[in-house]
Amino acid sequence: MCESRKAVLEAIAKEVMSCTKCQLHKTRTNAVPGEGNPCARVMLIGEAPGYNEDIQGRPFVGSAGNLLNQMLKIANMSREEVFITNVVKCRPPNNRDPNDEEIEACKYFLLAQIKAIKPEIIMCLGRHSTKVLLGLSGLNVDSIMRVRGELKKLLVDENEVICLPTLHPAAALYNPRLKSLLEADFRLLSTLTTGTRISGLDRWL
Ligand code: URA
Ligand code: SF4
Repeated sequence: MCESRKAVLEAIAKEVMSCTKCQLHKTRTNAVPGEGNPCARVMLIGEAPGYNEDIQGRPFVGSAGNLLNQMLKIANMSREEVFITNVVKCRPPNNRDPNDEEIEACKYFLLAQIKAIKPEIIMCLGRHSTKVLLGLSGLNVDSIMRVRGELKKLLVDENEVICLPTLHPAAALYNPRLKSLLEADFRLLSTLTTGTRISGLDRWL
């Protein structure tokens, strides 16, 4: 099963790397399709590649990535067992926010990745990712602070998936208060994934 998912993900990555569907292709060094376990139970979705990600072609390898690695440790998970990607796969110039057109153009790849991996849990890192995922179920997000740490059941292509929105690691880097909220959300992730299947979900939903 993982072999066929792996092949699908590789095909998506190949398409991403030659994609010209939005203007971000003009300024990228490398597209960043995402990486991890094709059979991951947990998928993490950030916003967009930054400087280091654009150079290396890999997601979350800069300082936000270091914090993400620390958070995964709190959840007793490794980068190898999850799948990490972003809402847009190419770096916006000067790390500006991706715009609606770019997000819309790139959504096709994100949805294809979710469909291939069929994760049990999607952790949305930050406002953009949360908006896109909850938007699939017609839910509006006006403030990430209001929705973070709260589980939502979503249908993606008829597959049920639990969405856990949290803050973007870059936002928590230099703010201890936000960092402790991020930690709390990763502890919740750890609670959910302990055991062979997600435990105690009904308690939370
Ligand atoms: N920030 C993101 O949203 N994604 C990355 O890959 C790196 C930093
Ligand atoms: Fe294509 Fe997405 Fe890159 Fe835009 S950001 S060029 S849609 S891969």
